[in-house]
Amino acid sequence: MNKRALITGSSTGIGFEYAKHLSKEGWSLDLISQNKARSLESKNKLSYKKAQFHIFDLGKKDSINSIVNNFETPDLIVANAGIAINGAIGDIKQDEREYFYYLMCGGVIDLIEGFIPKMLYKRNGRIVIISSIGAKASMPKSSLYSSIKAGIYAYGKSISTELKSQNISVTVSLPGYVRTQAHERAGLDHLIKKVPRWMWINPEQVVLETEVASLKGKFEIIPGKIYKIVKPFLNFKIATKIWRKITNRN
Ligand SMILES: NC(=O)c1ccc[n+]([C@@H]2O[C@H](COP(=O)([O-])OP(=O)(O)OC[C@H]3O[C@@H](n4cnc5c(N)ncnc54)[C@H](OP(=O)(O)O)[C@@H]3O)[C@@H](O)[C@H]2O)c1
Repeated sequence: MNKRALITGSSTGIGFEYAKHLSKEGWSLDLISQNKARSLESKNKLSYKKAQFHIFDLGKKDSINSIVNNFETPDLIVANAGIAINGAIGDIKQDEREYFYYLMCGGVIDLIEGFIPKMLYKRNGRIVIISSIGAKASMPKSSLYSSIKAGIYAYGKSISTELKSQNISVTVSLPGYVRTQAHERAGLDHLIKKVPRWMWINPEQVVLETEVASLKGKFEIIPGKIYKIVKPFLNFKIATKIWRKITNRN
């Protein structure tokens, strides 16, 4: 087994679990995150010889260019890095909006477009994009996050059709609430208390279901039973009302 995976946002949460999962299967790993201390912590925790740890701020174009120009072509790309963004319309400054958009949408597209010629040459490969169930729902006060995740979802869905005949599978994963550091880091601690336990799933489950879907060549996966059940009702007024109530700070 000499397969190579590139995972963005590998230091914690879903990305770290993805790295753990692939390490058990003997993959060589290029693991990217931005914070040195957290990267080192993940290195110690993973303790895996075939992993290389890299520091990049993926919200910057230079980082993506450097990765595309210098890294070995991956057999699997897991585009996962991201942050939770909360803010009502008008609250987030233009430069911040641009940065967030590049981190979770434009930069993901640049990364994939950068590697795709070489992946096509190999006529083999997989791409996994971690979007969010927010791509399919109305998310008042998280409109920027929702639109970014919808943008990358639409891109993934389209290229999955385009690349199918070339033996490259593209899978977009759309998780709901996942028990990671994302909400705490974004100052959304109230969600951890307010969102009912049954609405949270573990990052391990996200990884397992996403990998199964990717290996089967499915273009979309919504991890967790509860989210599969609620999916048809996501855009009902009542669902938005309940969601607003649950996520309200007060
Ligand atoms: N948790 C949820 O409920 C949930 C739900 C749906 C979708 N998602 C999506 O899942 C993905 C992973 O999030 P998570 O929940 O696992 O959160 P997490 O535990 O906070 O992990 C986020 C990862 O992304 C990396 N990252 C963030 N900004 C970066 C940047 N500018 N440059 C490089 N790396 C960066 C972090 O690296 P550092 O440690 O170096 O900062 C970390 O490794 C995100 O795209 C998120 O939107 C999460």
